Amino acid sequence: MILNADDVLERLRALRARQPVKFWALYSSQLGGIVTDPALMVLPFDDHMVHRGHGVFDTAALVDGKIYDLEAHLDRFVRSARTSKLALPAREEMRDIVVRTTAASARRDGSIRYWASAGPGSLGLTPAAGAAPGFFVMVFAGLSYPEAWYTEGLRVMTTTYPIKPPLYAVTKSTNYLPNVLMQLEAQERGLDNGIFVDEAGHVGESSNMNVAFVTQDGVLRHPRFEHILAGCTSLRLLALATGLVPRKLIGDVQVCDIPVAEARAAREMMLFGSSVKVAPVVEWDGKPIGAGAPGPVARALRELLEQDMRTARERLIDVPY
Ligand SMILES: Cc1ncc(COP(=O)(O)O)c(C=O)c1O
Repeated sequence: MILNADDVLERLRALRARQPVKFWALYSSQLGGIVTDPALMVLPFDDHMVHRGHGVFDTAALVDGKIYDLEAHLDRFVRSARTSKLALPAREEMRDIVVRTTAASARRDGSIRYWASAGPGSLGLTPAAGAAPGFFVMVFAGLSYPEAWYTEGLRVMTTTYPIKPPLYAVTKSTNYLPNVLMQLEAQERGLDNGIFVDEAGHVGESSNMNVAFVTQDGVLRHPRFEHILAGCTSLRLLALATGLVPRKLIGDVQVCDIPVAEARAAREMMLFGSSVKVAPVVEWDGKPIGAGAPGPVARALRELLEQDMRTARERLIDVPY
């Protein structure tokens, strides 16, 4: 059956009707504008981001009509693009497109994800001669997790999949196969997520989240960022966490290698990320962490982050709706 353009549009709309999505606006450099109909949020099949994973992305949060910590996310996006040999629009232009696409979405809460792609042009490996690199911005509902993750905590496993080599782990590219397989493996076992451990036996990170611990001596410890993604949430939380020292919830904050044995003996274990924020882990490989219940530091950090996302004026951009 050969379809004409009207048939295709009708079928793309039918697909979205069968599988509703909460995608509110997409800017595409290939279209040269913004669309709000999810059926039109498409990419050419020969874009190298699709068939070779030659693309990078990042995600910032939209909170009460303001974009949170965009500069930190853009810093990482620029680093990822450089490592991946991808060309980007000027930073001011990217910021402007992010803000305008968010305004076009008319939404005040959600997530803003943006991608850089090598562009269309061939089915080879390296970008086709003359291919224009793509830049895309999507405003969508964001990932959401069960409320029980926060009230009861998560159960995780050490993944059987190898951690990405450092160069790829620190680059937020569209190659998420190990991360996807880790999450599927955990789900197949009735668990919530997985944890990567490196060859030296140090804790790495989770699927799309970082991991941190409160050790027996009351120190908030986070793995070094040389072999994992430098989470914007982690970096912010490590700064905010110093506020818990005078409150005697922790004694210190450290970024260091964390051997698995030390991690398993922690009082608290938690996941950090833009989508999950702060969520307590209560069980790892079938054994309880600490008392096997959400702890006070995870709760306090979540409150600090929620507050920061609404009140840190220097980290918030007002969206001109
Ligand atoms: C592999 C990985 N680690 C950690 C994180 C947490 O990063 P952020 O706090 O910037 O969301 C993410 C999410 O982007 C991720 O994909």
